[in-house]
Amino acid sequence: MNQKPVYILGIESSCDDTSAAVLCNGKILSNVVANQEIHAKYGGVVPELASRAHQQNIVPVIQQAIEQANIDKKDLNAIAFTRGPGLMGSLLVGTSFAKSLSLALNIPLIDVNHMQGHVLAHFIIEEGQQKPPFPFLCLTISGGHTQIVKITNYFEMEVIGETLDDAVGEAFDKSAKILGLPYPGGPLIDKHAKLGNPKAFKFTKPRVADLGFSFSGLKTGILYFIQKQVKENPNFIEENLNDICASIQQTICDILFDKLKAASKQTGINHIAIAGGVSANSQIRSTLKSFEKTLGWTTYIPKFEFTTDNAAMIAIVGYYKYLEGIFAKENVVATARLKVSEQ
Ligand code: KG4
Ligand code: ZN
Repeated sequence: MNQKPVYILGIESSCDDTSAAVLCNGKILSNVVANQEIHAKYGGVVPELASRAHQQNIVPVIQQAIEQANIDKKDLNAIAFTRGPGLMGSLLVGTSFAKSLSLALNIPLIDVNHMQGHVLAHFIIEEGQQKPPFPFLCLTISGGHTQIVKITNYFEMEVIGETLDDAVGEAFDKSAKILGLPYPGGPLIDKHAKLGNPKAFKFTKPRVADLGFSFSGLKTGILYFIQKQVKENPNFIEENLNDICASIQQTICDILFDKLKAASKQTGINHIAIAGGVSANSQIRSTLKSFEKTLGWTTYIPKFEFTTDNAAMIAIVGYYKYLEGIFAKENVVATARLKVSEQ
């Protein structure tokens, strides 16, 4: 069967990465991401600086994505953009640009829920990559979210468990900050943990009902523990950095997987995916994989480039919406708070 090519331009600008991607029938032709280095200086994302950087980056990033895809912008069938959730100023840059470009090219505009993008990144067509069948569960873990989502169809998603306070990415980043590591600290904890003993130190795990999570207590526990140790030995962090990181990471893994196992048991679903920036974590990836043997799960682990924010995941949602004829209204607006279940 000869399928007519459908070219979708995806635009992502919800937080601190400006990204544009072109997909043809769900396959990636380009996926350009411009990271904003400026935030490292401040130990976290500064919203005002993020939106200014998006304004500078958006034109060259989109141009590069179209050039790398080796198409003309007139070939595009639709433009998909992140409507939310995210930082309002950042979202506005992508939303305004996507609106103007769709008007200029006279092609449909498709609004995309960023969280659905993280989940549906598993449907980007790639060699050797298996798509999860419906229904499946997805542990969506990022700097802003920690959720167990039940996915029944492309746009039917239900949160069955989520954090009551901090997101798991925040737990990684705040713990790293306590240890004097720069932002974002998650990847650095991962790096040091590889060389440390995960049983060296014990941190208390929270007790949360049902499938809920909590990470703010862990952060406080780590802070008090480090303050106490440093009082006794000012070199405590330097001397034990790998072991501290390994122990923190182990605790976070235990918290996540206790709930994920309970969710699988409760729903009877054994197809389990992970998504979001924190799904780049090596221990989370290997632990999930190990459950294929021990629990009989079929697991779906995204390629590294699809874990952190990127426009290919926005374009894939756009592609499925395009096939269904679901387009944005002309008066569509950026929405800072948007649940994964909302269109
Ligand atoms: O999805 P994402 O790029 O942005 C949000 O939508 O939040 O996630 C960013 C988060 C940060 O907290 C970062 O520290 C964390 O993902 N992260 C990691 C790793 N790589 C990124 N956390 C732990 N281990 C990693 N390897
Ligand atoms: Zn994200």
